Formats: sequence, structure tokens, C-alpha cells
Amino acid sequence: MLPVSEACERNKGPILAVLATELAASCSVLEIGSGTGQHAVHFARHLPHLSWQPTEVGAELGPLSERIHLEGPPNLRPAVALDVRTQPWPCGRVDAVFSANTLHIMAWDAVEDFFRGIGSVLTAAGVVCIYGPFRYHGGYTSASNAEFDRFLRRRDPSSGIRDFEALDRLASAQGLVLAADHAMPANNQTLVWRRRRAE
Ligand SMILES: C[S@@+](CC[C@H](N)C(=O)[O-])C[C@H]1O[C@@H](n2cnc3c(N)ncnc32)[C@H](O)[C@@H]1O
Repeated sequence: MLPVSEACERNKGPILAVLATELAASCSVLEIGSGTGQHAVHFARHLPHLSWQPTEVGAELGPLSERIHLEGPPNLRPAVALDVRTQPWPCGRVDAVFSANTLHIMAWDAVEDFFRGIGSVLTAAGVVCIYGPFRYHGGYTSASNAEFDRFLRRRDPSSGIRDFEALDRLASAQGLVLAADHAMPANNQTLVWRRRRAE
């Protein structure tokens, strides 16, 4: 029995609607922290122009690989192990990176590695789409996100909902410029950065 995320079932439709536009001109997507693989299967199936590369760390990789093997369409590549903290990343150049609900799970130094890694694999016309909850100007977008952040930090003090402004500084250091901030259901966002300089 493969693990199932109810949140993925709820959010995959709204995220797909954003990716269909933001990744319309992309060819290859690297997904960081693919989790159960429900997103990877759904997005690859509905965006057949993309070659989708799912990744995971540690014990999560086994069930992810199994779902990809059982349910994956032809444009979904076999899952590979990728820990953002271990560089260089085991992949070639990609023109898009997607990640959902990962930055509030990783410690901050891993978030820094996340953007450093993106900087090294993303092509000159590359795009980065990050889904999840974020803080703005030091505040939460909802009381439920504030409560979720307290839960995260009690469970793991190195985790927590990240400040948009701090993420934008890391993105900017990699030549990325914010192109869109999509409000999503349940007080989430999809942040979209595009590369601003030729390589
Ligand atoms: C809350 S889950 C989200 C999974 C999936 N993207 C989703 O939306 O359901 C957070 C994911 O971040 C991954 N993760 C945590 N630390 C990581 C790291 N250092 N490198 C890569 N992935 C990491 C975990 O393995 C986990 O799958």
C-alpha cells in the first residue's frame, strides 16, 4: 500500500493550473522533495511536454520510486536520491525547478543549499516554482499558518515557515527575479522566480 497525502490530493489541481502557465515554455523539470510522488504523477500526466525528474532523500525514496514505477507516464523519469545539502546535485541542467512544502521542513542552512543548488543546475532561461506557506513583512497570512509554524518549531526548532523576503534574497543571489506570487487555497502561495541574466 503506497503512502497517500490528502493535502496533495487537495492541492494538486490548483498547483497544476499555475504550472500549466508558468512552465508552458519549459522542457525539463527537477522536483525537489517529491514525497509520495502524487504531484509528480499528476503534473507529468497533465503536462506531457515536460520531462519531469522526481527526487527524494533517505527512506522516502523507496515508496516514491514504487509509485513512479506503477503510475508514472512516459515523461516521468525514475526517482533519484537528491539531498539539497549534498552538492553538486546528481542531475544535469534543467530549465525548471519545482518544490512543494519543503522549505519549512528543511533547516535554514539547507534552504540556503537549496537555492545554491538551483543556481548551479538552472539554465539561463530557467524558472523556479515553490509552493507552500510563507511569511511576509514578519507576519503570517493567516492564524492557521501561525499555529502551523508553532507546531513545526515545537517539533523541530530548525524548521518553520520561511520569510518571503529572506527567500527572495537567496533567489536574487542566484540571478533570479520574482515573476509572480500566486495566492493558493488554504493560505498557501506559489512563488515563481525567473533567471534574469544570460550565462
Ligand atoms: C512535507 S514533505 C512535502 C512532500 C511533497 N513535496 C508534498 O508536497 O507532499 C517535505 C519533503 O521535504 C523533503 N526534504 C527534507 N529535507 C530535505 C533535503 N535536505 N533535501 C531534499 N529534500 C528534503 C522530505 O524528504 C519531504 O519529502
